[in-house]
Amino acid sequence: MTSSSDRSYQTDRNLALELVRVTEAAAIAASRWTGRGQKNEADGAAVEAMRLAFDTVAIDGTVVIGEGEMDEAPMLYIGEKVGAGGPAMDIAVDPLEGTVLTAKNAPNALTVVALAEKGNFLHAPDIYMDKIAVGSGLPEDVVDIDAAVGENLRNLARARQVDISDLTLCTLDRERHETLIAHTREAGARVMLISDGDVAGIIAACMEGSGVDIFVGSGGAPEGVLAAAALRCIGGHMQARLLFEDEDQVRRAREMAQGDPRRRLSLTDLASGDVLFSATGVTTGALLRGVTRSGDHAVTHSIVMRSKSGTVRFIEGRHNFATKTWSAV
Ligand code: FBP
Repeated sequence: MTSSSDRSYQTDRNLALELVRVTEAAAIAASRWTGRGQKNEADGAAVEAMRLAFDTVAIDGTVVIGEGEMDEAPMLYIGEKVGAGGPAMDIAVDPLEGTVLTAKNAPNALTVVALAEKGNFLHAPDIYMDKIAVGSGLPEDVVDIDAAVGENLRNLARARQVDISDLTLCTLDRERHETLIAHTREAGARVMLISDGDVAGIIAACMEGSGVDIFVGSGGAPEGVLAAAALRCIGGHMQARLLFEDEDQVRRAREMAQGDPRRRLSLTDLASGDVLFSATGVTTGALLRGVTRSGDHAVTHSIVMRSKSGTVRFIEGRHNFATKTWSAV
C-alpha cells in the first residue's frame, strides 16, 4: 500500500521534472531575442512562454515572487494562480534573469523557477536587497553581512585554510559597489565583476570549481529569494537584508512579509521547507550553456534540483519545433 508521504515524495520527484519544461519553454522563447538589443521583447517572450508552460504542471500554484503587482504585470504577477491543479504550492519565478544580457547576447542569462509548499518563500517586494553568500562545508558564522568585507575575507580564508589572495569575490559591476570593490582589493582578494545576473553569481559562489568563493553586494530582492532556493538545494550559506529607499517601500515590505522588514534574513528566512529549483540557460555562462537553435529544433541545458534529496541534475533537451504547441517557439 502507498502511504501519503510516499505519494508526496513521488509527486515531488515528478514535479521537479515537470518544472524543467517550464524553464525550457521560457528559454527557447527568449532565445529568439538574444543579441537583438530588445530586452523588453525578450522578457515578454519568456514570460508568455513560462505562463503557458505552467498550465501543464500538476499544482495549485500561487506566484509569490513574480513579474510585479497585478496592475503592473499582465502575467505571472504576484498572487496569480497557475498550474493544472494539484498540491498547493508557492512559486517564485524570474522568467528572464538577465534581460540586458539576453539583449546583448552576453553570458549568464537564465530562466528560473522555484517551488515550495505554501508560506516557505519570503514575500519580497521588488526592491534592493543586500546579499552575502559562501559555499557549504564552512561554519555557519564564517561570514556576517554586517561585518566589513576585509574581516569576512580573512575569516573565510582561515576557514578554508587558503591565503586571502586565493579568494575571488563576485559582485555586480555597479557604482554603489565601489567601496566594496576597493576594500576587497585592499584586503588582498580578487574581484570578479558581473554586469548582471546575481542569481548565477550567488550559485557560482556556492559551487566548487566555479572560480568564485564569495558573493557580496546588493541586487534585486526577488533574485535573492530565487538564489536562496537554489542554495537550499546545492548547499551554502547566505544572509540578506532588504534595502529601502523610502518609507513607502518599508510599508510595502511590512504588508507583504512577516516580521521586522529591516531584520537580517537567514537562508531559511528566504526559502524554507522542501524546495524545487529549475533554471535553463538562455546565453552560455559559467553554470549552463545557452539555447542553440538550428532550423527545426533547439537544444537547451538546464539544472534541476530538490532540497529534500539534494539531487542536482543537468538536463540537455532537444526540442523539435514541429511538435511543440508553445506559441512562443
Ligand atoms: P533583470 O533581468 O530584471 O534586468 O535583472 C538583472 C539583474 O542584474 C539582477 O540579476 C540583479 O539582481 C538586478 O538586476 C540588479 O539591479 P540593478 O541593475 O538595478 O543594479
